[in-house]
Amino acid sequence: MRVARVQAWLGERVPIAPLIEALRHKRVPQHRYSVWYYFGGITLFLFVVQVVTGGLLLLGVLYDFWTLNSQISEANLDRSR
Ligand code: HEM
Repeated sequence: MRVARVQAWLGERVPIAPLIEALRHKRVPQHRYSVWYYFGGITLFLFVVQVVTGGLLLLGVLYDFWTLNSQISEANLDRSR
């Protein structure tokens, strides 16, 4: 009941129902399930991992950048003790 209402609310704002309907009827050509057909999916997966971990790395770099002055001040304070 509640899930249906959330779906309706979301569906009004992001109309993905036609897309889901189209994907439901999409027919994929027959092919041999050889290992070579996995390479596209593996590449896509590795790319997504690359983007996600790159984003995390960016957060770390930005944090370092924004706190650089205080880090230098702390290091100088430690050195002068
Ligand atoms: C970031 C790079 C790429 C990604 C993420 C990617 C992803 C995919 C995926 C998911 C598929 C469907 C599954 C499969 O057959 O593996 C596919 C199919 C295909 N890709 Fe790529 N691909 C990339 C690069 C390339 C390159 C560089 C070429 C050719 C020079 C290429 C040629 C093809 C072909 C011909 C198919 C159809 C295979 C078939 O159904 O017989 N792809 N790709």
